[in-house]
Amino acid sequence: MKIILCGACGRMGGEVTRLCEERGVEIVCGVDIDMKPVPFFLYPSFRDVTEKADVIVDFSSVWGLEERLAFAAAHALPIVLAATGYSEADEALVREYSAYIPIFKTGNLSIGVNLLQMLAKRAAAVLSEDFDVEIVERHHNQKKDAPSGTALMLAKAVEEAREGHTERVYGRHGMVGARHYGEIGIHAVRGGNVVGEHEVGFYGEDEIVTLSHSARSRRVFAVGALRAAEWIMGKAPSLYGMDDLLQDIVP
Ligand SMILES: NC(=O)c1ccc[n+]([C@@H]2O[C@H](COP(=O)([O-])OP(=O)(O)OC[C@H]3O[C@@H](n4cnc5c(N)ncnc54)[C@H](O)[C@@H]3O)[C@@H](O)[C@H]2O)c1
Repeated sequence: MKIILCGACGRMGGEVTRLCEERGVEIVCGVDIDMKPVPFFLYPSFRDVTEKADVIVDFSSVWGLEERLAFAAAHALPIVLAATGYSEADEALVREYSAYIPIFKTGNLSIGVNLLQMLAKRAAAVLSEDFDVEIVERHHNQKKDAPSGTALMLAKAVEEAREGHTERVYGRHGMVGARHYGEIGIHAVRGGNVVGEHEVGFYGEDEIVTLSHSARSRRVFAVGALRAAEWIMGKAPSLYGMDDLLQDIVP
């Protein structure tokens, strides 16, 4: 597998680079607006890339999304979009390009988090709507977007189980009044070097159920990214996610 690594100079870029070295996967070049030393050719933009590859892995940011997708489409390359913080317009752009190339997009590449998502959906269905749902996520002090893409995935899982009788409330401040029926509270904590923690709490009158996941190292996301990259090569143009990959592992 030959990879173009976008966001090569970042924290996740470093993790993917180390994992590729361990596994003998070739990074043909990197793309990053920050030109730090890396053990392969590095370009500031896709405009300059001439190397041939099998797949693009993107751990950069939402900025430059269209250039990345246009490059992938022009070279018929599958792309793994691992960055988070997409707007509605970005999501629409991704859907548009997925008619031409296979795109793998997920807010969280860890198998454990995706299991948490499945369990949260199940718990939301089993526990009645009298159970108030609060999602808390914790990340390091350099994370740019909030709440995390994973917290949004978890909220969506609860919404799906409760058939839309929900209202997202991001943090609370001031005289907000009593909690509304159907609120999903979403809270972002930022500090230190926390890799990523997510907790979905179901608060009832007489009992509380809490589901949680803690990532102990960023390597777990690099492992997931390479797995997704291998999986998406040769797929038909479409928009894929972890559900599709997991479906192949555990039908
Ligand atoms: N999906 C997942 O499982 C998962 C896991 C971890 C991180 N992430 C996401 O991946 C992204 C990167 O995380 P990080 O911790 O490595 O961040 P980081 O800030 O350490 O690294 C980002 C890198 O991308 C570069 N970059 C930014 N915009 C660019 C652009 N337009 N073109 C080229 N390069 C650009 C930056 O210069 C930087 O080197 C974030 O969005 C983060 O939320 C996703």
